[in-house]
Amino acid sequence: MTHPGLDGGPIQLGHNAGVGCGRPERFIEAVYDAGAAAYDHYWAPALHRHARALVDALPAGHRRTVLDVGGGVGTLAPALRATAGPGGLVVLLDRSRGMLRRAPGDMPRLQADVARLPIADQAADVVVLAFVLFLLTDARGAVTEAARVLRSGGWLLAATWGRQQGAGADDVVRDELDRAGAPPFPELPRSDELTDSPARMTVLLEACGLTHVRTEMRSLDARFDPASVLAMRTGSGALGWRYTRLDDPGRDAVRRRTARHLAALPSDAFLDRSEVLLTWARGP
Ligand SMILES: C[S@@+](CC[C@H](N)C(=O)[O-])C[C@H]1O[C@@H](n2cnc3c(N)ncnc32)[C@H](O)[C@@H]1O
Repeated sequence: MTHPGLDGGPIQLGHNAGVGCGRPERFIEAVYDAGAAAYDHYWAPALHRHARALVDALPAGHRRTVLDVGGGVGTLAPALRATAGPGGLVVLLDRSRGMLRRAPGDMPRLQADVARLPIADQAADVVVLAFVLFLLTDARGAVTEAARVLRSGGWLLAATWGRQQGAGADDVVRDELDRAGAPPFPELPRSDELTDSPARMTVLLEACGLTHVRTEMRSLDARFDPASVLAMRTGSGALGWRYTRLDDPGRDAVRRRTARHLAALPSDAFLDRSEVLLTWARGP
């Protein structure tokens, strides 16, 4: 690793963060900045056990350099430290300063874009892309960049979505936002069509030179409750963005009506069975 000063402490700006990145990237960054607290509290724990399974499947190692790209609030840090092994280094990279700020302060945190990692060629033994690829404008560019910084034979670990259906309770929040006149979330270019099945993940990763691609499909199986759905959906993500566009009386009405409807739903409506894809591949 040639980047100086990777010693934990304050969040550092990657030397080329933001270069060449357009409006969708800046918009997504702002959405995650605004929703970081609710994401950290409610959504990150729902994803964690699946992302952790990616990491835990690696054989034990030592002195590994591990990059968590789009690592968000750093939920994977303990697992990544274990896989980095004695003498290893774990670096968290993300565009959103709001997310990075919530990650453990004793690890190097770099504000950087997946499209331009401020990391030398072949510097990493493990690169993680957990729940990031689908929301990018250019997933192929991101995987190419991950392959560039990965040493030959190193591990690329990716988690992403197959069929993403959400919990039925989410529809209640959506309907109430519609009823209150919240503006729609902007249509942003995404990469789902490159990433939403095992076959597509294989095509994408092999096109970027990665080898030994293997994908496992599972169900998110995350169960929420009325209070967590209300806080999570009005506090983060696309619905959270819509909620923040309302004035105070509008928010108040959405909160009241949504809480009432959520309380009447059966418990199954709080179960999210979206498909999760876990992919392992080796560096070119
Ligand atoms: C769904 S969250 C996943 C966070 C974490 N990997 C996890 O599993 O909880 C997506 C993360 O990707 C980051 N992100 C989105 N677009 C990015 C980009 N172009 N460059 C770097 N990070 C990006 C977001 O800021 C956010 O932290």
